[in-house]
Amino acid sequence: MRNVVLIGMTGTGKSTVGRLVAEALGWPHVDTDERIEAVTGRTIAELFAERGEAGFRQWEHEVLREVLKGEGQVVSTGGGVVLRPDNVALLRDGQFVVALAAEPETLVRRLQGDASRHRPLLAGDVEAQIRKLIRERRGLYDFAHVRIATDNRLPQEVAAEIVHLYR
Ligand code: S3P
Repeated sequence: MRNVVLIGMTGTGKSTVGRLVAEALGWPHVDTDERIEAVTGRTIAELFAERGEAGFRQWEHEVLREVLKGEGQVVSTGGGVVLRPDNVALLRDGQFVVALAAEPETLVRRLQGDASRHRPLLAGDVEAQIRKLIRERRGLYDFAHVRIATDNRLPQEVAAEIVHLYR
């Protein structure tokens, strides 16, 4: 399989764990949100403000498609990447897909007070927004090869498990 790709709800630890998996495998780490910001010269929040969620999703799709043309990378995605069936089709095509998961309470604890530069969807009542996203996305991460709960675990432990599963 060409790349290791991390999917999952916002706050499950995709970026932190992805960096560690990449270090362990000696592979580059690509964070699609960071790549979108680099390509557009805008923060995620600015993109949402200027182009709406649809504009952001289009960039997300284009960046994902470009990144997945490569191989030997660890790719951390944004939580909403699974909303588009064409993204899911790309992910199902020869990628090792790991879904990170966490209880709603864990996500709320991790994301309370988040400055939201990357997360305009959580503006306002963080807990209510997270519960809404969980409802809307139920089942959408289930196509992954493996699902790993990250509650009460160090990112290093989760990363080591992924490396073990991949090898
Ligand atoms: C989003 C999650 C964010 C980012 C954007 C939209 C989502 O990434 O892509 O704010 O729809 O869940 P994280 O999963 O890293 O928070």
